[in-house]
Amino acid sequence: MFDSIPQRYVLLNKILTFGQDDRWRDKLLQNIQTKSGNKILDICTGTGDLALKLAKKFPNVEIYAMDFSPNMLHEAEKRAYKKGIKGIIFIEDDCTDMDFEDNFFDSITISFGFRNLSYSKENLSKALAEIYRVLKCGGNFAILETSQPKNIFIRKVFHIYVKRIVPILGKLISGKGKPYAYLGGSIAKFFDREELEAILISKGFQREKIIPFMFGGILLCMFKKPANGA
Ligand SMILES: C[S@@+](CC[C@H](N)C(=O)[O-])C[C@H]1O[C@@H](n2cnc3c(N)ncnc32)[C@H](O)[C@@H]1O
Repeated sequence: MFDSIPQRYVLLNKILTFGQDDRWRDKLLQNIQTKSGNKILDICTGTGDLALKLAKKFPNVEIYAMDFSPNMLHEAEKRAYKKGIKGIIFIEDDCTDMDFEDNFFDSITISFGFRNLSYSKENLSKALAEIYRVLKCGGNFAILETSQPKNIFIRKVFHIYVKRIVPILGKLISGKGKPYAYLGGSIAKFFDREELEAILISKGFQREKIIPFMFGGILLCMFKKPANGA
């Protein structure tokens, strides 16, 4: 599905998030602890918004950007080239089955891709097991994702927005209705904060902090692999 929308994806993100998506990614960056020579993997990198920011902010860190959609990845590479950002290692691969050795990365990040991994319990379990495996003990796992506002009234308005307005705007701007109808439906059904936290903890991660934006409609979740993680 993502292979069909890369050109308008960045513009639509800006419109659908009222221009806030960059601010949320910046907040994620502020919460990453890293130093020269470290390795950071951005999974589900899409058109590379987060990977590009990581590479700019941490020039002495090795940044890997992974996606299984060749068209999204190609768009990410083009954007890096246009912005003069060098050194990102782009990898076309599935993050549920990665080609890296255990404990390879100091940090792993994912922005607006966790929901895509959660389309089935089995897929999410495979992805989280792989993320845990390739992350070093004590390493950060940072997730930026949609969730559910706590307040019932705000939640209702949020659902009307994602289910009714987002597909219309998506079709108008990208010319493709289906991916944005899917997007709205999947956001409305996605985990709330407690469910998300429980899943990560059940897979062995430790919670560091969770920062809500937009009344909890968006969450920045900072987890880590325990220092003594197997
Ligand atoms: C909503 S986009 C997120 C893009 C970007 N990270 C952002 O912040 O806008 C989700 C991306 O996840 C990718 N994706 C979904 N499942 C994947 C998997 N198992 N392995 C690698 N990439 C995956 C899709 O191809 C798509 O480009």
